[in-house]
Amino acid sequence: MAALRQVSVAFPRGTFTAVMGPSGSGKSTLLQCSSGLDRPDSGAVRIAGQDVTRLREKELAVLRRDQVGVIFQAFNLVPSLTAWQNVILPSRLARRRPDPSRVRELLHRVGLEGRERHRPAQLSGGQQQRVAIARALLGRPEVLFADEPTGALDRSTGHEVLALLREAVDAFGQTVVMVTHDPQAAARADSVLFLTDGQIVDVLDRPSADQIGMRLGGRR
Ligand SMILES: Nc1ncnc2c1ncn2[C@@H]1O[C@H](COP(=O)(O)OP(=O)(O)OP(=O)(O)O)[C@@H](O)[C@H]1O
Ligand SMILES: [Mg+2]
Repeated sequence: MAALRQVSVAFPRGTFTAVMGPSGSGKSTLLQCSSGLDRPDSGAVRIAGQDVTRLREKELAVLRRDQVGVIFQAFNLVPSLTAWQNVILPSRLARRRPDPSRVRELLHRVGLEGRERHRPAQLSGGQQQRVAIARALLGRPEVLFADEPTGALDRSTGHEVLALLREAVDAFGQTVVMVTHDPQAAARADSVLFLTDGQIVDVLDRPSADQIGMRLGGRR
């Protein structure tokens, strides 16, 4: 069975798209294919004009390092590094010099102040995810893919993370694609895609949380 079928979608530069749908509908697969982490059996995936399905491993790695940020369900933190070191690792690998005051600000805004020196094993699941969020935001990637970035967070931290994503779009022109089950979170996006059985079945522009709730309710 195909995880995605006949999906044709554009995420315009400088927009915030939410992706919703039942468990198993293909949301994570869509993000993994869109970000070049996974390769669809057929079709094309273009980021800034380049078809990532046709790039060689090395070119893809460079594109992903320089232009794509991901916050996925598995956080992929390096266990031996502290929260701070994990956040700056991709920038260091890209030979950039991260601004320490921005690292501090990001860690503060995701609620990890005072935990800079903790290693992943000393952090809760939600805290580890917040390290991954700060790490993805630090390099100001062109495109940011986030798979349920607020799912494990308390209300106020969740709000702050959504504000950071919104700011990435509004202040820095980044493109954000976020999977969420939460109508309130999805209502922060410019448009909301609904997936069912691997297909896009609906798109709402600037919906309210109530409209999203109704759309979800009508499908169940
Ligand atoms: N690596 C894989 N190989 C084969 N099938 C997979 C793989 N990953 C996911 N699937 C299948 O593809 C479908 C879509 O999975 P996906 O993880 O994209 O769903 P999802 O919408 O993200 O669900 P959830 O809300 O539970 O995270 C499911 O039927 C799943 O079993
Ligand atoms: Mg998923």
